[in-house]
Amino acid sequence: MTAQIIDGKAFAARLRERVGEFAASFAEKAGRKPGLAVVLVGEDPASQVYVRSKGKATIEANMESFEHRLPDDTEEAGLLALVEELNADPAIDGILVQLPLPDHINEQAVIAAIAPDKDVDGFHVINAGRLAVGQRSFVPCTPLGCMMLLTDRLGDLSGLEAVVIGRSNIVGKPMAQLLLDANATVTIAHSRTKNLPDVVRRADIVVAAVGRAEMVQPDWLKEGATVIDVGINRLPPEPGKEKGRLVGDVDFAGAQQRAGAITPVPGGVGPMTIAVLLRNTLVAAHRNAGIDLSEDVV
Ligand code: GUN
Repeated sequence: MTAQIIDGKAFAARLRERVGEFAASFAEKAGRKPGLAVVLVGEDPASQVYVRSKGKATIEANMESFEHRLPDDTEEAGLLALVEELNADPAIDGILVQLPLPDHINEQAVIAAIAPDKDVDGFHVINAGRLAVGQRSFVPCTPLGCMMLLTDRLGDLSGLEAVVIGRSNIVGKPMAQLLLDANATVTIAHSRTKNLPDVVRRADIVVAAVGRAEMVQPDWLKEGATVIDVGINRLPPEPGKEKGRLVGDVDFAGAQQRAGAITPVPGGVGPMTIAVLLRNTLVAAHRNAGIDLSEDVV
């Protein structure tokens, strides 16, 4: 079997296009564009790249981008004061504080300070709790993007065996909740799981989110499984090259011979994250302005 490639890049482009159209009609009704504030503390190069792409994508989707870049030695109190200002600003529908934060700042305290109705990352405990009990919430962007790719490919997930590898608050746990809500039978595997290959072999759906290059081996996969690879890992450079290749948590070349469908790295889950962030911001804007939006259209 040669797996179908799940083209996250194309899916994300279509989602961004759709979000942009809804954002334009929101602006006509509300008299303002949806607004997303992104806060970056320090100079982490990867974070700078992410923040720049988020700002660009926000503007392309007919939304207002508010960027706040603070120095590395910003005190926690200063950052909390900025978050309070953004909470109170009616032009801002979504707030994202780029992680990781410098060590001297308590990330949980900062996330807790974001108004839950502007928490488009879905990291606030209120949103995590709402998701857990099945209430309307903001869902973290990466797992929601994975879910969109899965339902697009498979339709109804009812009764399917899903194995999520990784138990982070940002990906693994919300991913498991979403799969459970979709009536899949869900297992969360992690570093202490015994016989991981045997656990994964049960799965119709595998979501790998561990951050270990090419850990999931082809012979762990059930024939025809749908594989969603959340990992982005850089291999050591080959001789004569400056940078190593980007690979996921799954051995892609081998897995392609067994899986029914698989996301590539890059070009699979990665592009979905920003597209879903824009989607969450659009939803936040409608909720905040009291304008109807059928949320399943985006
Ligand atoms: N750092 C890497 N990914 C993310 C994300 O999705 N949200 C935030 N806030 N920080 C990140």
